[in-house]
Amino acid sequence: MGTGGRGDAGEGEGGPAAGHVEGDHAFLGHPRGLFTLFTTEMWERFSYYGMRAILLLYLTDTVANGGLGLDRTTGSAFVAIYGTSVYLLSVVGGWLADRVVGARRSVLYGGIVIAAGHVLLTVPGFGFSMAGIGLVAFGTGLLKPNVSSMVGELYARHDPRRDPGFAIFYMGINLGSFFSPFIVGSVQRAWGYHAGFSVAAVGMALALVFFVAGYRYLGTAGTDVPNPITPDDRPAVARLGALVLAGVVAATVLAALVGKGWGIETFIDAVSYLALATPAVLLVVMYRSPRVTAAERPRVLAYAPLFVASMLFWMIFEQAASTLTEFADDRTSLELFGISISPAFFQAVNPASVILLSPVFAWIWTRTHDRPPTAYKFVLGLTFAALSFVFLALASAALGDSLASPWILVTVYVIQTLGELCLSPVGIAATTLLAPRAFRGQAMALWFLSNAAGQAVTAQTIEATEGVSDTAYFGGIGAVGLVCACILLLLAPWVTRHIRRADELEGAASAGA
Ligand code: PHE
Repeated sequence: MGTGGRGDAGEGEGGPAAGHVEGDHAFLGHPRGLFTLFTTEMWERFSYYGMRAILLLYLTDTVANGGLGLDRTTGSAFVAIYGTSVYLLSVVGGWLADRVVGARRSVLYGGIVIAAGHVLLTVPGFGFSMAGIGLVAFGTGLLKPNVSSMVGELYARHDPRRDPGFAIFYMGINLGSFFSPFIVGSVQRAWGYHAGFSVAAVGMALALVFFVAGYRYLGTAGTDVPNPITPDDRPAVARLGALVLAGVVAATVLAALVGKGWGIETFIDAVSYLALATPAVLLVVMYRSPRVTAAERPRVLAYAPLFVASMLFWMIFEQAASTLTEFADDRTSLELFGISISPAFFQAVNPASVILLSPVFAWIWTRTHDRPPTAYKFVLGLTFAALSFVFLALASAALGDSLASPWILVTVYVIQTLGELCLSPVGIAATTLLAPRAFRGQAMALWFLSNAAGQAVTAQTIEATEGVSDTAYFGGIGAVGLVCACILLLLAPWVTRHIRRADELEGAASAGA
């Protein structure tokens, strides 16, 4: 989930937040700026998920039908790597906002770049499509982490409306994600893929209109550059730039060597390697940094198993747009209550379930006083995700050659949503809590990286299992997920001790502030 954000980092210790306007309760008891960010992110997600709902179909449909004619394996791996790129680039978006342009301009520029990307996607042709997809990925990297962090800036640090504010924001995300598959899917069926993409372009244009029109409600949220580059920093920034470039080149060469040549697979592999290496490097840098205190160091270690669990969770969850869309297209009867449906429609099940089930989960966690502790909620999240695949494997085995009822996929998505609601909301909190003080700003990046790395694992798995039956594919991943959930369960007491210790340190620090 896209809540949390670097809002904590941008805000002075204990002081009022940048965008905080005293006594502003105009939007459901929340600051009016929340309405601005809610509508911006709602329309941005509308465009993102609408486009993603038909992306696999577009990539793999025949050229005669208006598609790009890729084979299923490459198409699915490409969709996964597109997701990887989006969240990997949010590291760049976070960095640019922190050090160069500030969150607000980052959202604005990101929005413009996304809209331009969708416009390119409305034009038929391989080159236009690839350029469009690249722009959407880059723009989303600029926009997504920063719009979340601005939500954090609307509230003073200890404002009790902060968490509910993020919950409302998350509803915005899911409202946009819920409506778009119907509209984009229907337009695509009637007028073709590029018409579908143009709906996404209109959605993104609306996001920009709401964002710019709502500037006046945002106070100063997102206007400052928290850690601007000084002349002294320039050599370090140049070194970082060179390092990133070297990483990209190394990953590309490695991918070319592994794949024995150049092609779309080279790109898929190179991005996968980068997405897996980046969080590993970040964790090692954090662990070894002299700016990290001795008390903080074990927390970095405690975060590692949570990171892996979260990566595996997103690895399964984000297959909605790739292998599960394939399953919808190839093996599912596309008729519900006598009405013929598009495979894209299934993408609405998760956001709908989030909207319906969030209040239930909020109620449960209040009743249990937020128990079980975070690590156990991660175990639950991963277990649900793995079970959804085990269920699909069994259903697929029972099917034989006949088509699956659409309710099978609906059930898969509902089970995954149960997992999402266990893992996602606490994930961000754990990320910010376990990150050492010197790395607060990068903690959010780490959270997005767990999603990016998860989808990289997906892309690699899809390529490595070409020709494997659905039962073996989903069953195998489900089984690995369950085994990892068991390992995390064994580690959970140890992780929990470290989080408690972090809690105490936080308490001591804020009492002293
Ligand atoms: N539905 C969530 C969103 O779009 C999925 C997500 C989770 C994305 C975590 C990024 C990180 O915000």
